[in-house]
Amino acid sequence: MKFTVAIDGPAAAGKGTLSKRVAEEFGFAHLDTGLLYRATGARVLAGADSVEAATSLEPEDMERDDLRTTAVAQAASKVAAIPEVRAALVQFQRDFARREGGAVLDGRDIGTVICPDADVKLFVTASDAVRAERRYLELSANGHEVTREGVLRDLTERDARDRDRETAPMAAAEDAVVIDTSDMFIHDAVAAATRVVRARIKAVSD
Ligand code: CDP
Repeated sequence: MKFTVAIDGPAAAGKGTLSKRVAEEFGFAHLDTGLLYRATGARVLAGADSVEAATSLEPEDMERDDLRTTAVAQAASKVAAIPEVRAALVQFQRDFARREGGAVLDGRDIGTVICPDADVKLFVTASDAVRAERRYLELSANGHEVTREGVLRDLTERDARDRDRETAPMAAAEDAVVIDTSDMFIHDAVAAATRVVRARIKAVSD
C-alpha cells in the first residue's frame, strides 16, 4: 500500500515529534526533510559549493552529530532558498513518499511542492514564544550553549527567509489541516494528527 502523509510548518512547531509518532502508530517510514537541507548547509559551512553539496549528499551526511546547531540551521535555510539546491533534492523525497508501506515526510513544502497529491496534509504551527521555549529546552538538554533570545532570533529569521523565498516558500496547502500546538501537550497533538490519518485511511479503503 502507498500512503503519503505530508507535515509542514515553521521551525520547532513540533513537526519532528509528531511525524515520528504518526509514523510509528501506522508503521510508516519517516523522512525528516529538514535534515537534507541541514546536511547541505553543514557541507557548505565546511567550504563546499551549495549545489554540488546537495547533488552529492550521502546517507552519512545526514548522520553528522552537528546538524542541530543554530549555525547549521541558518546555513540550511540559506541554501534552501537556492532553486538548484531544492531541485537536486526533489526526486529523493518523491521516491521516499511513494514507497510501499506508507510514508510520513515533514518539512516546509511537502504538501505544496513535493507531494501535492499527498493523502493527508497537516500544517503544524505554534506561537513564536512557545516554539522558542521548546527549542531552547531541547537544545540545552542536548548540551548546546544557547540563550532564549538567540533561539528566538534564529527561529524568526529562518521563518521569514523560509516564508518569503520565491521557490517553494513555506506555506500551508489549501487542503491542509492546521494543528496549532501552542496550548497542546504533544500527546494531544499526536492524537489529533492520528485521528486525521485514520479517517483518511478508512476513506481510501472503503
Ligand atoms: O527543526 P526545524 O523545524 O527548526 O528545522 P528543519 O525542519 O530541520 O529545517 C531546517 C531548514 O531547512 C529550514 O529553516 C528550511 O529553510 C529548510 N527546509 C526547507 O526549506 N524545506 C524543507 N522541506 C525542510 C527544511
